Amino acid sequence: MPTVVFIEHSGDRFEVDAPIGKSLMQVALDNGVPGILGDCGGSCSCATCHGYVDERWAAELPEKSETEVFMLEGVPDLRPNSRLCCQIRMKPQLEGIVVHLPQEQV
Ligand code: FES
Repeated sequence: MPTVVFIEHSGDRFEVDAPIGKSLMQVALDNGVPGILGDCGGSCSCATCHGYVDERWAAELPEKSETEVFMLEGVPDLRPNSRLCCQIRMKPQLEGIVVHLPQEQV
């Protein structure tokens, strides 16, 4: 099964199994990764699943929707590689994807 690596702001690293088709937010919740909250359940309306996706996987990510862009504008430390993890579904090309988690979700 493909894996995702979440790296907490503290540096703690979680390498977890990620079923194809499942969102990275749900993968994090299923595995007890503390830096992803997912308060809205994945409906792109809370931004508590914010993460910084390693640039190596940038070309494989879906385009940001207008709603995702709008929600990201509200996060405290927006960066070019900021994404909402509920909007990224696992696929084989994302094997090993690394997502750094922001300080605000500690
Ligand atoms: S879980 Fe709420 S925006 Fe992603």
